Amino acid sequence: MGIDFIFAAILLSLMIIIATCLYYERIVGISPTPSLPWVRSKIIESVKSRMNVDGKYEIAELGSGWGGMSISLANAFPKSLVRGFEISFFPYWVSVIRYLRFGNRVSSSNNCLFKEDISKFDLVICYLSNHHMQKLRPQLKKMKKGSIIVSNGFAIPDWKEDEIIIAQKGIEIKIFIYVVS
Ligand SMILES: C[S@@+](CC[C@H](N)C(=O)[O-])C[C@H]1O[C@@H](n2cnc3c(N)ncnc32)[C@H](O)[C@@H]1O
Repeated sequence: MGIDFIFAAILLSLMIIIATCLYYERIVGISPTPSLPWVRSKIIESVKSRMNVDGKYEIAELGSGWGGMSISLANAFPKSLVRGFEISFFPYWVSVIRYLRFGNRVSSSNNCLFKEDISKFDLVICYLSNHHMQKLRPQLKKMKKGSIIVSNGFAIPDWKEDEIIIAQKGIEIKIFIYVVS
């Protein structure tokens, strides 16, 4: 009875989590799949080569999922503020819990990223879709001169990238880096 109850409760919880994630995936068109570890490392390596690790930057991750990438950014830039934007319920709350150890330095917004003003950020990181990159253009255009945008897998239509990095391990993934001019 006890074991059966625990098993049923775990199964039900998993089903609720999966159903909720699928519901948000239908709304926004992307699942909360985390970026691959070696792609994440390449992104961190690349931004570290362009920015001062002791700098006090404002960093945004658009569609921050379960929070792993924002945590890597917070560790790479220990004096910077990192803000994630994530609409999907469970990934958002898991990330909020994971960010607790950073205090106010790492935070998250549960709003739709298209409704946010991202003009103040020095660095914007995203792993979204072609549709998102197209729709994000007006917001990205308002960013400060010299700020950096890094997009995992998807180019910003009609923008000239500063660099394309290839992360390859079985599959080849392009990382697009832009400097706002
Ligand atoms: C492919 S995942 C990337 C997760 C994380 N950035 C990483 O690299 O590990 C994309 C995330 O963007 C979120 N997302 C997509 N559209 C969004 C929107 N309009 N507002 C907020 N979050 C959004 C999805 O819910 C999903 O969790």
